Formats: sequence, structure tokens, C-alpha cells
Amino acid sequence: MAETLTITDNRTGRQYEVPIQDGTIKATDLRQIKVAPDEFGLMTYDPAFMNTANCKSRITYIDGDKGVLLYRGYPIEQLAEQSDFLETASLILSGELPLQKQHDDWTRQVTLHTMLHTNIAKLMEGFRHDAHPMGMFISTVGALSTFYPDAKEIFSPESRRLQTIRLIAKLPSIAAYAFRHSIGRPFNQPDNDLTYAGNFLSMLFRMTELKYQPNPVLERAMEVLFILHADHEQNCSTTTMRTIGSSHADPYSALAGAAAALYGPLHGGANEAVLRMLHEIGSINHIPAFIKRVKAGEGRLMGFGHRVYKSYDPRAKIIKKMADLVFDATGKNPLLEMALELERIALEDEYFVSRKLYPNVDFYSGLIYQAMGFPVDMFPVLFAIPRTAGWIAQWEEMLNDPDQKIARPRQIYLGSGPRNYVPREKRK
Ligand SMILES: CC(C)(COP(=O)(O)OP(=O)(O)OC[C@H]1O[C@@H](n2cnc3c(N)ncnc32)[C@H](O)[C@@H]1OP(=O)(O)O)[C@@H](O)C(=O)NCCC(=O)NCCS
Repeated sequence: MAETLTITDNRTGRQYEVPIQDGTIKATDLRQIKVAPDEFGLMTYDPAFMNTANCKSRITYIDGDKGVLLYRGYPIEQLAEQSDFLETASLILSGELPLQKQHDDWTRQVTLHTMLHTNIAKLMEGFRHDAHPMGMFISTVGALSTFYPDAKEIFSPESRRLQTIRLIAKLPSIAAYAFRHSIGRPFNQPDNDLTYAGNFLSMLFRMTELKYQPNPVLERAMEVLFILHADHEQNCSTTTMRTIGSSHADPYSALAGAAAALYGPLHGGANEAVLRMLHEIGSINHIPAFIKRVKAGEGRLMGFGHRVYKSYDPRAKIIKKMADLVFDATGKNPLLEMALELERIALEDEYFVSRKLYPNVDFYSGLIYQAMGFPVDMFPVLFAIPRTAGWIAQWEEMLNDPDQKIARPRQIYLGSGPRNYVPREKRK
């Protein structure tokens, strides 16, 4: 028997049967509930989408209470251990792990598209010397739509495939250019002999040597960090990608918007905020006073808490383990001791325990990035590169979903009723 929800409207005494499917009711099914026939009908009020599914998706699954994260059904722990970023991106985009031939073809295509048009380099040179790399990144990704006007063909699978390859290939190059610009060094061209992560490190850090040899530990760490950040279902930036994409904008414009959403300190800017917080705290002795201020509502413990995870973020566990390997290669980040102590105190404190606030992916990632030589301004950019795979997969899923239309929420209007315009000289 089909599951339904019976609703009795006390205003009219009428009863309604609303179908339940996949544990949800359709918000539009509530519109039939009204007192007078000319009324609009019942709506739901859900600021920040706290209890509203905006789409059906087959990409990423999260069980926030159990700390489970799956891409297309595969546990994040197995992918972080055994896969590399390009394979994971291919999985997220296509739904299946690629066969060897598919993987080789995909890798070759991405490798062939890493170069940037020289005018993109000129455009990036125009930024102020102290421009935030994420600001440069967002603007340049948006500008890509002017270089590839064929991207408007969003209903052509071939065009979507080409833009996908371009985005996955070129975003690390744009990120590296933004970094090089901010430190006043010439842009490095891509090296097609290297892996995805190895080439990125080369574009970032190569100096005068003819051939850059990435440190294998750091190269692998970069791959793992990319895998961990590749998708995370309907977060703020992904919702932005879907929302902009729902107006049938091209993927570069939509992705620039998604990256802008990622920039905020409550989302992709959180690891930057963690390091700034650790610097502000200054020493282990100051931690108890800092925790006291957080509990009094005078600020947040950055890198803690999550809208979905109400237990330890599985990505944070993987990063925490990986930190030791990275620090063996780079030397220890002096802020690590403070982070460990903060975590220890917070996990024992009733305030954090009762609110189920645990370290999230950003709590330790910043320490690793810093040890690898990245300035904090680069952190959100490092997040945006791999998330591109998730954004594009979610955008395509949205375009191919017959249930989707242009995103357009409702509002509850609480403002003034109709009133007449008063000329300025007569206003009181
Ligand atoms: C991620 C985040 C935005 C989720 O927010 P949310 O789901 O809207 O949760 P709320 O803001 O409703 O918080 C619930 C309660 O926990 C508290 N809380 C949440 N995160 C907190 C944090 N990092 N430090 C201190 N208190 C926190 C809130 O003050 C609130 O307490 P209250 O019920 O007494 O008012 C939030 O936890 C946060 O700001 N974390 C720090 C930023 C961060 O690390 N972001 C990266 C996410 S990957």
C-alpha cells in the first residue's frame, strides 16, 4: 500500500491525503490546503533549506550521524587510500569507476587541456599585486565563458563533455597563476609528463629548474586532499551551482558563482579562518580563555561543527592521519600542538558535546596546506579545484532531471500593504 500522510486542517475540518515517497512529501502537494478557493494555498517556511530536499541525486551520500561519506556508493576512506583524483572525478561525473581505457583517455584529454589562453594570463596580470587569489580565481573562471562561447550549448552532451574537460584541466592552472601573481613570480607552463597533482605543484612551485620533481609524499597528499574535497552533496556552493545552472547559464558562469559561495568563511573559507584563529589564540595557555569566549557566544571555534555531520567528519579523520606523513616531509607546523589541544578540550566540553560539534574537514587541512608552503589566502582556491568535479556532476544531473525548473523560492511577505506615493516635499 502506498504510504500517505493524513493532514487535518483545523480551519476547515477538511482532511487531505498527501503521498509520501522516499521519506518526503512534495511541498507543492500542500498547495491544495486552503480555506477559500482563491487563496494561494499552504506553503512551507524553511530558511537555509534546513529540512527541504531540493533535488533527487545519485552522486554523494552522507550519513551525518554515523560519519559516512560515499561517492557513487564508494566509501571515502577506500577512495582516499586507493584512488587518485582524476579517477575519483571520473567516478563522480560518470557514475562508475572507469575501465583502464576510459581512464587513460580521460587522463590524456585533461592533460591536453591544461594550458591557458595567453589573454587569460594578461587578464590575470591586471589584478593588483595583493589581490586575494580566490577573487582572481572567481573572476577568471567567470571570464572563461567569453573564451569558450560554445559552452552555451548546455543541452549538447558533446559540448558539456568538452567544457567538463576544460574546467577540470584549466582550473589548477588558473589557481597556480593566481598564486604566482600574488607572490610576484612568472607563470609556469603545465608539464604534461606529471600527474594531475604533480603538475599542479610544478606550476605553483617550479623555479629555475628545467624539470620539477614533486616530492612524492606531498604529491600524494595533494591527491588525497583533492579526493576528500571532490563533492559533498547539496552544500551552499553546490546549491549555488544548481541554482545558477537552472537558469541555463553556461557552466563557467555557474561555476564562478559556486566558487564565490565557497569563498565565505562559513564554507570553503573555514580553513583559512582556522589558521587565523590559531594565530589569534597565540599559545596553548590562551586556549581555556578562548573556549570560554566561544561558549559565551563571542565567536566560533572555526573548523568545528557541520550542518550535516553530527559526529566526527570522516574526511577530518583521514586528514589528521595524513598530517603526520606530510609533517615528516615538511617539518612540523608549530600550530599543530595548539590544534590538537583545542580539539582535546572541545571534545571533552559539555558545550561542544551536547551540540554534537566535532572537527570538520577544515580543522586540519589548513595546517597541512601551510606546511606545504601555501599562504592562507590560497586555501579556498585549493578547495575549489577538486570541488569542480562535484559541481559539474551536480549541474549535469540537474540539467538532465525532468523534475527541475528554474530555481525560484517563495517568500512570506511581511512588509507594508499597498499605499500611495507621497512627493518628497510632503513627506513627514
Ligand atoms: C558549519 C556551521 C556553519 C553549521 O552551522 P549550523 O548547522 O547552522 O549550526 P548552528 O549555527 O545552528 O549551530 C548550532 C549550535 O551550535 C553552536 N555552534 C555551531 N558551530 C559552532 C562553532 N564552530 N563554535 C561554537 N559554537 C558553534 C551554535 O552557536 C548553536 O548553538 P545554540 O544552539 O546554543 O544557539 C557552523 O557549525 C559553523 O559556523 N562552524 C564554524 C565554521 C566552519 O568550520 N565551517 C566549515 C564547515 S565544513
